[in-house]
Amino acid sequence: MDRVIEPIALGLPARQTGLDLRLPSPVTELSDDRLDRAGIRLYLKRDDLISTEITGNKWRKLHHNLAAARSLGHDTLLTFGGAYSSHIRAVAAAGHYFGFASIGVIRGEEHLPLNASLSHAVERGMRLTYLDRTSYRRKSDPDVVSGLEARFGRFYLLPEGGSNALAVRGCAEIPGEIAASFDVICCPCGTGGTLAGIAAGLKPGQRAIGFSVLKGGRFLDPEVEALQRSAVGAWTQNWSVDYDFHFGGYARRTAELTDFIADFEQRHDLTLDWVYVAKMMFGVMTLAGNKEFEPGTSLVAVITGSAVPELR
Ligand SMILES: Cc1ncc(COP(=O)(O)O)c(C=O)c1O
Repeated sequence: MDRVIEPIALGLPARQTGLDLRLPSPVTELSDDRLDRAGIRLYLKRDDLISTEITGNKWRKLHHNLAAARSLGHDTLLTFGGAYSSHIRAVAAAGHYFGFASIGVIRGEEHLPLNASLSHAVERGMRLTYLDRTSYRRKSDPDVVSGLEARFGRFYLLPEGGSNALAVRGCAEIPGEIAASFDVICCPCGTGGTLAGIAAGLKPGQRAIGFSVLKGGRFLDPEVEALQRSAVGAWTQNWSVDYDFHFGGYARRTAELTDFIADFEQRHDLTLDWVYVAKMMFGVMTLAGNKEFEPGTSLVAVITGSAVPELR
């Protein structure tokens, strides 16, 4: 049964009660002739419906971190991201609703007027600062972090993309919310934190597939393994990353992907976020069409975020 919970129920004082969280997020079965032909079932785990502002994997990754920041006595969150980062927007919103100051360290130079994504973060109270691309690459180095502390004082640091051990533990809560029995669960991958968590939350016999939205070698495998070791102390070995559906790389797309999104919207009345979710869904449908899943397999696709075209 869906329920709407107030953030206050999580022990985090909300500055205002405007943030409704829909948890557990709904699970719906997708009816699609392509799945019928493959003899498989596909459920959607609608994490995009958790909240409009701290949506999808953003909520999963942030909530244990917010609780930790609070219990460690922090009043400021600091994080990193590009000028269109949804993680930056989510941290700004988290600061606003849970009573933290927030600082966004943005890659590259300031461009005025601010784009819609950064304007939204500023409206939510985030203070922005910029790091040139060379320093940005070294953003986790102690000298860069202490330089930021010298400027801004004490803060709770959230990594770029939000993937740390507490974020992984938040994502590990996703499988436990799915009442339907399933064999395989799929999610898009950027830093790999969401996959690391989801896989850590599976039962024996279940497995996870992450679809990389970035182009490159098998760079995500060691990242996911390291995130699991830091979060749950073990590499669960029940997951894999598929690198074949990046469509040119991060924030790149092809006409084929655009057509797939339009077709999916027409069939299912759901607009897929093209940077992450659509690439996973294209991958799932392609693997199904290629009979990569045994007939009778039940799959879950985690809808990790929503399409917000005006903010991309
Ligand atoms: C909607 C959406 N899905 C998936 C991801 C990828 O998650 P991760 O970086 O944990 O692999 C992101 C980025 O955080 C995202 O915004």
